[in-house]
Formats: sequence, C-alpha cells, structure tokens
Amino acid sequence: IQEAPNADLAELIRTIPDHPKPGIVFRDISTLMLDGGAFAATIDRMADALARANGGDPPELIAGIEARGFVFASALAYRLGAGVLMMRKRGRLPGPSVSIEYALEYGTDMLEMHDDACGPGASVVLVDDLIATGGTALAAVELLEGRGAHVRQALFVIDLPELGGAQRLRDAGVAVHSLIGFD
Ligand code: PRP
Ligand code: ADE
Repeated sequence: IQEAPNADLAELIRTIPDHPKPGIVFRDISTLMLDGGAFAATIDRMADALARANGGDPPELIAGIEARGFVFASALAYRLGAGVLMMRKRGRLPGPSVSIEYALEYGTDMLEMHDDACGPGASVVLVDDLIATGGTALAAVELLEGRGAHVRQALFVIDLPELGGAQRLRDAGVAVHSLIGFD
C-alpha cells in the first residue's frame, strides 16, 4: 500500500467539529504551523508544485489572503524571490483600494487590495492555506484580474474537494495545486 503523498503533513492538521458553526468540520492548520520542520516542508512542497507547473519561471508577486494565507504567502515569496501582495479583509488598507464581497463556507466577507498594488500584466500566484467553496479565492482572482494582473496559478495547502472550490477556480482558467485533500 502506498501512503498518500504529504500524509506526514496531513496528520499534523487538527480537526475541530462544529467550528465556527454547527456542521462545519474545521481543519485547523495552526498545529502544522507550530512544527518548524513541517512548516518548512510545506513551503518547499508548494515551491516544487509551482516549479513543476510553470517550468521554474518565478512570478513577480505572491498574493496572500488574510489571515492564514499571509503565513504561507510570505514564506513562499521569500523562497521564490517574489514580492507579497496582501489581499485584506474589510477596512484594513490605508491607501485607495478596490473591494469585493464574497461568500465562503461559513458566511460572507469582503476582500480588498490597494488599487496600485500591481501593474497591468503582472504575473501573480494566489496563495491561501485552504480552499473550500472557492468563494474567497474566486473573489481574489476577480479583484486581481480587475487590476490587469494575470493569475494563472493558485496554491493551497489544503483542498476540501467535496465543496467544489478547486473545480470552480479551474473552470475560471486558474491552475490549482494543493498538497492535502480532506473529504
Ligand atoms: C478561510 C481560509 C480561506 C477561506 C476558504 O479563511 O483561510 O481563506 O476560509 O473558504 P472558501 O473556499 O469557502 O471561500 P477565513 O475567512 O476563515 O479567514 P482567516 O484566515 O482570517 O481565519
Ligand atoms: N475555511 C473554509 N472552510 C474551512 C474549513 N472547513 N476548515 C478550515 N478553514 C476553512
């Protein structure tokens, strides 16, 4: 029997039933982040997945989604020599910004980015810890592409494939890579 690739990382993710609402099975990545070796391996494997997908041509920018996405986006950007573009939640950015409302697995929220954060034609890779319904990631792509960026690749540590987000993102023309899938 062959172990699932990345099973070593999957076992460090804690599962919390009924958070933040009854019926939601919350996948808590904070327990993986506490393990230095596992965190480094996660970033290395994200970098490898991206290199396999785009032939080693590094992006100009890694766009990370507040808050858990920032942790992975910034470490990956450092490894790749890319800049970090922050996709923030409502009302946090100081400069002129564009915003979009979206639905996620357990509610609605708003994402914002500075309207001058990337030039037209910028190559941007989207990074978050997890994709569920894809509402958050699709909103981020819409904001970035609205500013003229090219978002061809998106990277997640965790995919919840039953919620369909990765497929929705692929249908929107973005190549999706994840390390761990949970049913
Ligand atoms: C979580 C996760 C993703 C999003 C995925 O973030 O980090 O950003 O939900 O869900 P979706 O695919 O259904 O949109 P959350 O909004 O809980 O914010 P946090 O990182 O600040 O905890
Ligand atoms: N974001 C959306 N759905 C989630 C889940 N089930 N666990 C952790 N983060 C999430």
